Amino acid sequence: MTARTYLPLILSLSCAIGVSAQSEALNGPAPTQHNLMPVPLSARFDTGRLPVNKSFTVAVRGQVDPRLKAGIDRALRRIEGRTVLELARGLAGDGATATLVLESGGPGKAVPSVEEDESYSLEVSDRQAVLKAPTTVGVLRGLETLLQLLDSDREGYFVPAVQIQDRPRFPWRGLMIDVARHFQPMDVLKRNLDAMAAVKLNVLHWHLTEDQGFRIESKKFPRLHQLGSDGHFYTQEQAREIVTYARERGIRVVPEFDLPGHATSWLVAHPELGSAPGPYTIERKSGIFEPALDPTREEVYKFLDTFFGEMAVLFPDTYLHIGGDENEGKQWDRNPKIQAFMKTKGIKDNHALQTYFNKRLLQILKKHGKTMMGWDEIFQPDLPQEVVIHSWRGPGALAEAAKKGYKGVLSAGYYIDLIFPTSQHYVVDPIPTDSTLTEAEAAHVLGGEATMWSEWVSPDTIDSRIWPRTAAIAERLWSPRTVTDLDDMYRRLAVTSVRLEEVGLTHEKNQAMLLRRLAQGRDIGPLQTLVSVVEPVKEYRRNQQRPQTMLSPLTGLIDATRPDSDAARRFAATVDGLLSDAPLFEAHSQQVRNTLTQWRNAGPELEAMIDRSPALHEARPLAKDLNELGTTGLEALSYISRGVTPAPEWRTARLAALDQAAKPKGALEFPVIPSVRQLVIAASELHQLKQMTPAQWKTQVKNLAAPPKRTGN
Ligand code: ACM
Repeated sequence: MTARTYLPLILSLSCAIGVSAQSEALNGPAPTQHNLMPVPLSARFDTGRLPVNKSFTVAVRGQVDPRLKAGIDRALRRIEGRTVLELARGLAGDGATATLVLESGGPGKAVPSVEEDESYSLEVSDRQAVLKAPTTVGVLRGLETLLQLLDSDREGYFVPAVQIQDRPRFPWRGLMIDVARHFQPMDVLKRNLDAMAAVKLNVLHWHLTEDQGFRIESKKFPRLHQLGSDGHFYTQEQAREIVTYARERGIRVVPEFDLPGHATSWLVAHPELGSAPGPYTIERKSGIFEPALDPTREEVYKFLDTFFGEMAVLFPDTYLHIGGDENEGKQWDRNPKIQAFMKTKGIKDNHALQTYFNKRLLQILKKHGKTMMGWDEIFQPDLPQEVVIHSWRGPGALAEAAKKGYKGVLSAGYYIDLIFPTSQHYVVDPIPTDSTLTEAEAAHVLGGEATMWSEWVSPDTIDSRIWPRTAAIAERLWSPRTVTDLDDMYRRLAVTSVRLEEVGLTHEKNQAMLLRRLAQGRDIGPLQTLVSVVEPVKEYRRNQQRPQTMLSPLTGLIDATRPDSDAARRFAATVDGLLSDAPLFEAHSQQVRNTLTQWRNAGPELEAMIDRSPALHEARPLAKDLNELGTTGLEALSYISRGVTPAPEWRTARLAALDQAAKPKGALEFPVIPSVRQLVIAASELHQLKQMTPAQWKTQVKNLAAPPKRTGN
């Protein structure tokens, strides 16, 4: 019996899994699959459609505040950009006949607040769309929904008839951008603010100071930015511009000044604030460093009082982040004056000393009208309850803080710099289903933030590390908890990713640019094949495997690759289909064969390119691996198709070769290897099929195909 006749039996099991569980909140028959991200609280689709053509007009009922007017203009320009229709400028006078009618209950708060009402309702019929919200912020959110609903077919552009009621699950939905390790110019921040607004994120957490850079102008202490930034800092005027730009889009700006550790750049200019005499120089490496402010000296608090007085005015948000992470206190241990101070005051260890510092800082921030926030190291027994805990080391701290009455924000699980797949972030919930928090305790959990630490991103690559994955995190923080279907998330994410280019993001297009530069030419086809199936190594392994400093160019092959390879995920699904779905065996095997052939052929083509471009030398072993993966997969597929079981030596040799290919090179790895391994196992286990149930067989293939555990990197 051939494999082909067996395949119907083999994996009928996987069919049961594919049922798409839409949000419980989405009711009624949807005429089309929607592409909304985040999914709204409730959406009832109907059968009609509102045509969008060049007679599209917008009317506002009631007050038109400047932010609303600017938001309408931006939305119209984006509709024009997508549809190539030139639309009427300005607002229509007549609410009865306009295509889109907006109603805002008021302009919203002058300084955006965590309590801002972001809710809205959107009703689209075949005659008109009506968007209503208590404030302009809600209208802005609803306009983004409308832009996501805009669809097209042979008849033209349209918005499907729908009734949406929407509001966020969490009030704090943020993106942290570290502009200190690698400075990010204004246009990078602005396009990311536009993208945040497009997926309804509402907090830019601006990580402004670090060991590697002090990025904000201080008029009180100008040496800080003059000596601590290599000339790459934001002027106060630029900071105000970002705050205004963010507010226009309903986004708060929370600045972070990391203290008392991560503070080398402060001490370059002001070594007198440090716990060791110095001198200090701007740090060029990544990691945890010793320099820390001296918490025992009154001049330090005097300095911070003046500095935060200045920053409190510049950044109007109520919240101010003081960092507080990863201070190991080594300088404190070695400083006899600090040790003597601790003894006199009965301060038992460095944690208690940092809490002493934090409490002094809290008084300063309160004086300047700010609520203090810090990473979860500051969560120590003596910390006043008014401080907000930003959890990064694990979800436990957030729950513990909430139980003790502290407000908190979650970033553990949303570390997008670690290069994990979107699915891994998507399943992280600030209040998971097994949470033991009471309703009152759960209300202390304000939300979450994706964190873009910038050790390994340049202005050319940062978008590709943030997007599109952050759109899925945005959904987790906005949508009902029940919205969890991974396949549907990835389907909508692919659409969202392309639409995010409309606001100027470079996450898609810069890959080809980087490859052209590496290849020194336009012919990058084989390189594109390679980068489509490799990913940077996860967690902090990049720096171990391919050490660089903050001054190194970020223009290598690794920088052109992206997290969460679409091609790998598609290949895995097709291989799975091939092994599970007999009626489609031919179609799947043709698709798998085409892909494998492309990999096999790309190898030698890449070799020729690498010979011409020394910058590509890292790709040489990867080109060989890619060729190997293609060849191995094609052999396995041939065995499966012919129903011929290969000799045991073939399997041993192929699996050993795959193990070699699985070792990262140039800090890159192939996420497609488990699928190729699955093909090899399937081919070599064909003879066992008669003795196994389909379920057993599938389990066997999956188990045997699991990649070997790697240790040490
Ligand atoms: C952190 O990642 N050190 C907050």
